[in-house]
Amino acid sequence: MSIFASIFCPKIRHTRLTENMEIKDKVFEKFIEGNDIAKRIKAIAKSINMDYNGKSPLFIAILNGSFMFAADLMKEVDISATISFVKVASYNDMESSGNVKQLIGLAEPIFQKDVIIIEDIVDTGRTIKKILNEFTSLGAKSVEVASLLRKPLASSADVNIKYLGFDIPDKFVVGYGLDYDSLGRNLKDIYQLKV
Ligand code: PRP
Repeated sequence: MSIFASIFCPKIRHTRLTENMEIKDKVFEKFIEGNDIAKRIKAIAKSINMDYNGKSPLFIAILNGSFMFAADLMKEVDISATISFVKVASYNDMESSGNVKQLIGLAEPIFQKDVIIIEDIVDTGRTIKKILNEFTSLGAKSVEVASLLRKPLASSADVNIKYLGFDIPDKFVVGYGLDYDSLGRNLKDIYQLKV
């Protein structure tokens, strides 16, 4: 974990707010306010602006979940930068007898580029590890990760998230780009499943 993340990343362990939201068959309670998200994004962007001063990084946002974080982060980035978008498709590989993830839609050459991957959440870390391996093998000059949220499994997995918004408990979350059955991505706050 980077010094930045270990010192400044707030660890959100308890629900602080009680406003409820129903989505289909589930009830969620407000967990992280949009205002707090905005503050963290400003802090992350400040670090990126300092770290990449004099460089021109290529941001690559992983759709769909990261679209809102990517848009708000980019508004706070004031250095020269470009952005592109990719998706990760999951399919079942009979030969490996498991679920395999494949990166699709990478249109930008990333050879010799300083790449910053934008994710909404790192949960098990499987997706980000796959992407990191792929970008490294394509010859990126450097690859770092900016993720709004991180769950405990990823904290213990070997994944370095240089720019992190919040460490959260292992509970289902929705809003601010994250979905429950494709719904809730448009919410400006993040909600947690109520149990
Ligand atoms: C989510 C999220 C990450 C991934 C993290 O994407 O956006 O890409 O899961 O999970 P992991 O760390 O366990 O691999 P999802 O597949 O839900 O697609 P979406 O972004 O379109 O909602």
